[in-house]
Amino acid sequence: MINLMTTAISIEDVRREVRILSSLSGHKNLVQFHDAYEDEDNVYIIMELCTGGELLDRILSRGGKYSEEDAKAVMVQILSIVSFCHLQGVVHRDLKPENFLFSSKDDNSTLKVIDFGLSDFVKPDERLNDIVGSAYYVAPEVLHRSYGTEADMWSIGVIVYILLCGSRPFWARTESGIFRAVLKAEPSFDEPPWPSLSAEAKDFVRRLLNKDYRKRMTASQALCHPWIREAQEVRIPLDILTYKLMRAYISSSSLRKSALRALAKTLTVNQLFYLREQFGLLGPNKSGFISLLNLKAALMKQATEAMKDSRVLDFVNTVSSLQYRKLDFEEFAASAVSVYQMEGLDTWEQHARSAYEYFEKDGNRPIMIEELASELGLSPSVPVHVVLQDWIRHNDGKLSFLGFVKLLHGISARSIPKA
Ligand SMILES: *[C@@H]1O[C@H](CO)[C@@H](O)[C@H](O)[C@H]1NC(C)=O
Repeated sequence: MINLMTTAISIEDVRREVRILSSLSGHKNLVQFHDAYEDEDNVYIIMELCTGGELLDRILSRGGKYSEEDAKAVMVQILSIVSFCHLQGVVHRDLKPENFLFSSKDDNSTLKVIDFGLSDFVKPDERLNDIVGSAYYVAPEVLHRSYGTEADMWSIGVIVYILLCGSRPFWARTESGIFRAVLKAEPSFDEPPWPSLSAEAKDFVRRLLNKDYRKRMTASQALCHPWIREAQEVRIPLDILTYKLMRAYISSSSLRKSALRALAKTLTVNQLFYLREQFGLLGPNKSGFISLLNLKAALMKQATEAMKDSRVLDFVNTVSSLQYRKLDFEEFAASAVSVYQMEGLDTWEQHARSAYEYFEKDGNRPIMIEELASELGLSPSVPVHVVLQDWIRHNDGKLSFLGFVKLLHGISARSIPKA
């Protein structure tokens, strides 16, 4: 296996590993940490003994592939522990089949994630930039030196691809060749056994191996994916993405809020499943409303010591302290829907078109070019009359379909072509 990490592991890294292991606790898919001590030369970490061998060995002993049912059972355990780490603000950064051990030789034994040697704390709105991990499992945005917890989800996509077909999605003889494949190549679903696997399985893998991290599923969403959800009794965990999206929603203009509300009206039963689970976790009152204070309360139920280091609590405090009325499920759905993820779906065009129809009925209004520019956060130096003319309808001065889609995305420097 090629390791990107060429620098010697420093004592600081080991201390961080100990801090992460000892502060994360209480999940059955996490190797149990007992103690650590140092002498003059070494740091010793005492952990639970796992005798069942590596996930990699089990894959190999099965001739390199798992049935869909067996792969799902493995995935549920991986997603469950990874969603837990992500909520605590810990990104593993080295997820691969060698880093999962079975607790015993028994077929139904529990899978445990080990080796937090490359892990780090990450705030929900922070981007990391050091390149670490293992080449076959590394996410494109890690190579671009700007990433967060989504990078782990890519690695899980690589693992499940291997579980299902026995080969690697991105392969080359050299490290730079692998990196090129990760950045440019699409994984193949043409060769056997892919044609005989279920459409849900392929959809699941594709939504993890999306090169755009904003379109990739989170661990909590992956547990809600029909491929997993319909097979197993799965407990859906709280997703920090919900908090990030809600924060952006609350600080949006009322025009953007109504655009998002129109988009939320087009969600399918499957898409609503995840949002209903998240809403339920936030503890709505009997009439079905949540306040922003619920965000903190819900998180505190799951908090471990790690949240202090990762400053997830600070982040949630800033969201919780915003002044905003209570939200019912309909408004919550509008606030927590990810436009990027929807855009990654094959059905995006239909969603956007029907959302625009709803928006036309109650939401669209005449808007001045300057006002739209400020809605979208365009800098005054942008020649707005040139850039925005297609975003406003000439006959009535209301938003065009194009303008509507831009508004859904909200403020972003990328929403404008360079002048
Ligand atoms: C729930 O919250 C809403 C909005 O604040 C309020 O109108 C309603 O009375 C509350 N219901 C209960 C049962 O507390």
